[in-house]
Amino acid sequence: MIPLVDVKAQYEPLIPALKERFAEVLESGRFIFGPEVEAFERESAAYLDVPYAIGVANGTDALVLSLEAMGIGPGDEVICPSFTFYATAEAIARVGATPVFADIDPVTLNLDPEDVAARITPRTKAIMPVHLLGRPAPLVALESLGLPLIEDAAQAFGAEGVASTGVCSTFSFFPTKNLFALGDGGLVACRDDAVAERVRMLRFHGSRDKQTFELVGTNSRLDAIQAAALRVFLPELEGWNRGRREGAARYAELGLGDVVGLPLDEPGHVYHIYVVRTPDRARIAAALKEAGIASASYYVTPLHLQPAMRYLGYGPGSFPETERAAADNLALPMWGCIGADVQERVVSTVRAAVAMAAA
Ligand SMILES: Cc1ncc(COP(=O)(O)O)c(C=O)c1O
Repeated sequence: MIPLVDVKAQYEPLIPALKERFAEVLESGRFIFGPEVEAFERESAAYLDVPYAIGVANGTDALVLSLEAMGIGPGDEVICPSFTFYATAEAIARVGATPVFADIDPVTLNLDPEDVAARITPRTKAIMPVHLLGRPAPLVALESLGLPLIEDAAQAFGAEGVASTGVCSTFSFFPTKNLFALGDGGLVACRDDAVAERVRMLRFHGSRDKQTFELVGTNSRLDAIQAAALRVFLPELEGWNRGRREGAARYAELGLGDVVGLPLDEPGHVYHIYVVRTPDRARIAAALKEAGIASASYYVTPLHLQPAMRYLGYGPGSFPETERAAADNLALPMWGCIGADVQERVVSTVRAAVAMAAA
């Protein structure tokens, strides 16, 4: 079976290095916070070119803690896309604020700044763009709207411009992400001294010293074993992202664009997920499955139509481009070291499925 993401193929050559690092952690006896976590925070801050990087338990907590640290809560509105993973809007609702959805650009599948502008009210406290599928969101246009940004960069470690603008930018290290852990993990990259200090406290029960508790926080820590793995993987990220970009170029060279709509290539895109557009997706997905190749459709029920978001009052037709993308997107295999042999099989299977439909 060809998977959608072959995580193991990426880390297999690094197993000796991982074992060495894990042995050091075992020797140290420090599993929560400690030197590995601190070193990863320093190294990721340097990579992202931000003053602060704070390790947390996962990408969802990274969003929740960023919102809380920025003082966003009941009565506030935050604008975000509906075409994204549920955690984006869930985090906004989780802190008691109201998610306000905006439509996406049909070509980039990222937030449409014009639609965002139309949805700003006196209650809007922030905009939460998502760098969806690894493609940088339009930060310059969104920043010009004059509100603080929280970048949901869960899918886009290493994409151009990511974390350059948001007060906070959040990352997930779920094992399929471009930069991944061997379990859950997350990070808040922060450009504001006071907000960073609050995120740091909130992830540990609102305390600086485990004696005095100044805020009502939570327990959301990146552990030393995950930080150790992330420190082995971070130097590989550029190579993996290059491999993904080469994979995307290869899909185009192999003629995939003759039969389905290809994602627009942009230099900063790191192809976390390789998504094509097609009216034939059910037939293509079935043919791929038959051939032992995984595929998937993302956000088939966009967030404004999810049961938990019904209270917001949106209905079918509220976001036409979002609903179109939900109906016709199909993700094909993509990872940091995907090979030509795999991609040739994918393309020939897709071609055959489309040819059968036309016959
Ligand atoms: C866009 C987006 N935001 C947030 C998250 C949440 O991250 P996590 O699963 O680490 O909580 C994810 C990923 O899974 C995501 O894709």
